[in-house]
Amino acid sequence: MTRGALVSVVSGKGGVGKTNLVANVAVAAAGLGARVLVVDGDLGLANIDVLLGLTPLRTVADVLDGNCSFDEALIAGPRGIRVMPAASGRMDLPTYRPASLAGLLIPLFEATERFDLVLVDGGAGVGPAVVTLASACDLALLLVTRDPTSLADAYATLKVLNREAPTLPVEVMVNLARGEIDARAIHESLGRVAKRFLGKSPPYRGYLPLDARLAEAVTRQQAVVEAFPGASSSEEISRLARYLLTRRGPAQRGARPMLPINQPSPTS
Ligand SMILES: Nc1ncnc2c1ncn2[C@@H]1O[C@H](COP(=O)(O)OP(=O)(O)OP(=O)(O)O)[C@@H](O)[C@H]1O
Ligand SMILES: [Mg+2]
Repeated sequence: MTRGALVSVVSGKGGVGKTNLVANVAVAAAGLGARVLVVDGDLGLANIDVLLGLTPLRTVADVLDGNCSFDEALIAGPRGIRVMPAASGRMDLPTYRPASLAGLLIPLFEATERFDLVLVDGGAGVGPAVVTLASACDLALLLVTRDPTSLADAYATLKVLNREAPTLPVEVMVNLARGEIDARAIHESLGRVAKRFLGKSPPYRGYLPLDARLAEAVTRQQAVVEAFPGASSSEEISRLARYLLTRRGPAQRGARPMLPINQPSPTS
């Protein structure tokens, strides 16, 4: 059986554009006919439902507390995407370790049987829940900007993922780049440090330019490709959506050595 890819977007540093990237790529992929699930992986601070103007009745906290099933907490977003909302103001959830997150991880793996793409909007930082969720995915997109603090935090995230999930593929997306040459230079500076200290550097996946219409599109509940087809970020969002749809998850998820349920808890 082919399964949809389970992909997380992480950054270490907050505010670099993860939620906007996830929302746009999700709606763009749905516009291509894909069945898309978005999980707000910033478990204690709701982001994605706010950005998409959705009003959740239940959240991931209800799922983890056993108050409802995974499917009962899902809400419909633009273009038929499904969204698993995060809780608003639950300090304990981001500290959850693999065993406590099983109630989310197992339905997430199962969801890849009926969705073509499952996107996890990771929280900032390298706390246990962020690392556990990213480690459980088939691919982590590491979002970075030229800001030195973003590069430093991206490297720190890479280091933690390399330790907790050594076989997890990580690819770099550059946000707020002036163009491809600029983006590749930013990727290079991260890659050099990673190569030196970790012995490997994550490949370049793509970039997004600074584009006010990217955020504006989401407030209209559309992907930038639909609201503003001529926008500078449209082409890159479409490219990323198509790429993620070509990726498939493993036929047997339980066979993955990185299944975090059996791993030691991450420490940051
Ligand atoms: N390519 C872009 N062009 C213009 N504005 C952008 C771009 N990417 C992100 N932004 C803006 O940057 C701000 C932060 O974006 P976003 O909320 O997506 O970041 P985040 O990484 O999800 O933050 P957090 O870590 O707090 O969840 C938002 O106001 C968003 O509209
Ligand atoms: Mg966010």
